[in-house]
Amino acid sequence: MEKKSIFSAIQATGKLTLGNYLGAIHNWVKLQDEFACTYAIADLHTLTVRNNPETIRQNIMDLLAVLLAAGVDPNKATIFIQSHVAAHSQMAWVLNCYTYMGELSRMTQFKDKSAKHADNINAGLFTYPVLMAGDILLYKADLVPVGEDQRQHIEITRDIAERFNKLYGETFVIPEPYILGVGARVMGLQNPTSKMSKSSTIPNDSIYLTDTKDEIVKKIKKAVTDSEGIVRYDVENKPGISNLISIYGAIQNKTKEEVEKEFENANYGSFKNAVAEAVVGVIEPLQQKYQEIIKDTTYMEKVYREGAKKAEVIANETMREVYEKIGLVL
Ligand code: TRP
Repeated sequence: MEKKSIFSAIQATGKLTLGNYLGAIHNWVKLQDEFACTYAIADLHTLTVRNNPETIRQNIMDLLAVLLAAGVDPNKATIFIQSHVAAHSQMAWVLNCYTYMGELSRMTQFKDKSAKHADNINAGLFTYPVLMAGDILLYKADLVPVGEDQRQHIEITRDIAERFNKLYGETFVIPEPYILGVGARVMGLQNPTSKMSKSSTIPNDSIYLTDTKDEIVKKIKKAVTDSEGIVRYDVENKPGISNLISIYGAIQNKTKEEVEKEFENANYGSFKNAVAEAVVGVIEPLQQKYQEIIKDTTYMEKVYREGAKKAEVIANETMREVYEKIGLVL
């Protein structure tokens, strides 16, 4: 049987967190053997927020180096930079004409982002989900591994695809969100009821992939817990400990029950030591590899050029099919 296809992308916004790693990157690596994977660095999506050109370029190369350092393998998966495949912008335009203002207005990410960037509520911020829908539909992906916060964007992608198929006949595959287990949602260490974020302003709330060993250990030691003293998963009443259980489980490939069992008789201090050791154990080797790769610009260029070439074949074919169906002259 043919392998199911997967598409996913990460925005190149700089300063990646442990949440980005465990929630996405780590899973990308795991999925590349079992599925036909296409992974993009979503650079066009980042343009919805103002940034200077040098930073943007750096963020893109940085993310590529991190992905490669983490083990995304260009011989197994297709990995490319979104803007290198023109069909992404082309598809976004077409799909814009099959998406309603009303549905885009209901997107929670749009509402959040426009509150946060009230001085720059540009049209791109509004149509962001349409570009994302195009990303996915171009590759006829069966599954889209994303974090819980992107579920609504997959739903609108499905709605747009179904609408198009109904008008023009079977064209797009209706994708399913593929929300992966424990790693899917890493929360802040100080504020474990919201997602670990690169823009958190609370000190010690987020672990960055660039943090030193000492910083990581310190942040985990300071992570908020509760007064029960038992390593038990209970998001409602023990969000801090539950988050640490998730982090540890994601790294060690263990279920929360297995983690609870392992630390049955442990106090929070020794549990935190184990979590810190596990986190350092993934971040340190990642940093070493990253340092090698980021210097090797020739290798990185080879990866993204070849990736774009492979992606383009599929994307252009879908684009042509769409142009033809809607009545453009080819
Ligand atoms: N919007 C996604 C995020 O912020 C990134 C993204 C862009 C994406 N295009 C995509 C994710 C296509 C999955 C599929 O996380």
